[in-house]
Amino acid sequence: MRLLVTGGAGFIGSNFVRHVLDASEHTVTVLDALTYAGNRASLDGLPAERCSLVVGNIADAPLVDRLTGDHDAVVHFAAESHNDNSLHDPRPFLDTNIIGTYTLIEAARRHGTRFHHISTDEVYGDLELDDPHRFTEQTPYNPSSPYSSTKAGSDLLVRAWVRSFGLKATISNCSNNYGPYQHVEKFIPRQITNVLDGVRPKLYGAGRNVRDWIHANDHSRAVLTILEQGVIGETYLIGADGEEDNRTVVETILTLMGRPADAYDHVQDRAGHDLRYAIDSTKLRTELGWRPRYADFRSGLAATIDWYREHEDWWRPQKAAAEARYREQGQA
Ligand code: NAD
Ligand code: TYD
Repeated sequence: MRLLVTGGAGFIGSNFVRHVLDASEHTVTVLDALTYAGNRASLDGLPAERCSLVVGNIADAPLVDRLTGDHDAVVHFAAESHNDNSLHDPRPFLDTNIIGTYTLIEAARRHGTRFHHISTDEVYGDLELDDPHRFTEQTPYNPSSPYSSTKAGSDLLVRAWVRSFGLKATISNCSNNYGPYQHVEKFIPRQITNVLDGVRPKLYGAGRNVRDWIHANDHSRAVLTILEQGVIGETYLIGADGEEDNRTVVETILTLMGRPADAYDHVQDRAGHDLRYAIDSTKLRTELGWRPRYADFRSGLAATIDWYREHEDWWRPQKAAAEARYREQGQA
């Protein structure tokens, strides 16, 4: 297949592009606006005969229409992706996550193109710490933040286009990803690069919030599986049973980096901060046979720390601006 991968210069999109080139014969065109979160360098070294980059916006209808018509499938990762940014300036989240997705599905419907929409478990809102239930494909939508509400809106648009217009789409909702090439504004790389800079990690509030961590490589394998074998109109939840509270994650990073486990600061909590996410990925496992390969979070984290240690040239240009945004928000 000729794949059009939106947001392919971002964290998970670039991981997916590398996975596709390794594990299949598909070719890839990346469509990416190279916002503050996109990075050409995340695609360095990929074979030019199978992978190219078009710098452009997913809300640019003529561009999207032309590119969609030239490809067999669209895999849609592009988004404004950071909750904290969405609380301070929601507008780009509506433009990209809602209007951008609308622009893509209109083009896919016109051309009859297969479409896979990447989303998040945050559309389901949050769980109590002691809730025995986890999110499933049947959990009602209940998003909390401007980010998660615009992702929820985009999911609902895709579902409506399937039902009303026969769009050949699937949707996946994944839990929190970690791994190389993640922007330093996000929790894990922010703390790793802080420690490398001799700065204490910053924990929001008491740090009791739980996230369900999955390695980005496992997410990419799941997305390719759904693209190739998923049933049109279906939603699949992607998760690797990786629940950890934020305090444990910070303490593990500090320990792995040879610092005292309590050498971090508590900073102002995030407004509306979701308490816990947890995914039940039984459907993906039983119907499509996917299994995560990164079962050990601690060793995945150790490898991620090594990657940031060895790739300062990749993350250094982002760091000052990201920390300046946190200072403005009182979270530095
Ligand atoms: P990211 O912020 O690292 O990358 C987003 C990419 O989209 C960037 O390359 C950016 O330049 C591009 N982009 C943004 N607006 C654009 C526009 N208008 N037109 C074209 N390109 C644009 O994000 P990520 O963490 O890689 O997330 C990718 C997708 O996965 C998102 O849809 C996100 O909601 C979803 N997701 C992320 C996680 C996570 O833990 N990071 C978990 C579940 C789902
Ligand atoms: P984040 O990486 O922003 O992902 P999400 O909001 O999509 O879950 O944050 C993960 C968790 O870490 C979340 O509970 C907020 C918390 N957090 C901190 O405690 N300190 C930080 O510096 C950041 C960026 C996040």
